[in-house]
Amino acid sequence: MRLFYWLPMLALAASASFAPTQAQQGPALAFTPKDEQVEDLPEGPGRDETFGLCTACHGYRLVSNQGMTRDKWDETMTWMTERHGMPDIQGADRDLILDYLAAHHPPKAPARTGGFRNPFAPQ
Ligand code: HEC
Repeated sequence: MRLFYWLPMLALAASASFAPTQAQQGPALAFTPKDEQVEDLPEGPGRDETFGLCTACHGYRLVSNQGMTRDKWDETMTWMTERHGMPDIQGADRDLILDYLAAHHPPKAPARTGGFRNPFAPQ
């Protein structure tokens, strides 16, 4: 029986000693998508729509880390719909979002197949 009294105590002690460590690590390591604001994105038509649609499931950083042609963004949107259940946006709304993605996240380097891209390189 005695163990039942000790378990909550241990849990408390553990959380108390872990909490300050987490605070010191700061936002860089914590997954905090709420830190992303639509205002952080480059301005332009379609910004709100793109941010709203694409951040329903993941941070916008996953999008902005990529650079692609409009065609490839189109494929990505189809992929998000088919594989992950993103709403199937078509017509003018899709054009708006694709224009935004293509304008602000174009291919970063000359298209070369299978090249290594240093994720820490300045953009
Ligand atoms: C319904 C949920 C959902 C929505 C909405 C969504 N995605 Fe995703 N997306 C995912 C998931 C889950 C992953 C990670 C798993 C994977 O890579 O298959 C992902 C990964 C990605 C990646 C990374 C692929 C890679 O090669 O690492 C890109 C780029 C991306 N999404 C773009 C977008 C864009 C652009 C939009 C908005 C037009 C969007 N996503 C909206 C679910 C979604």
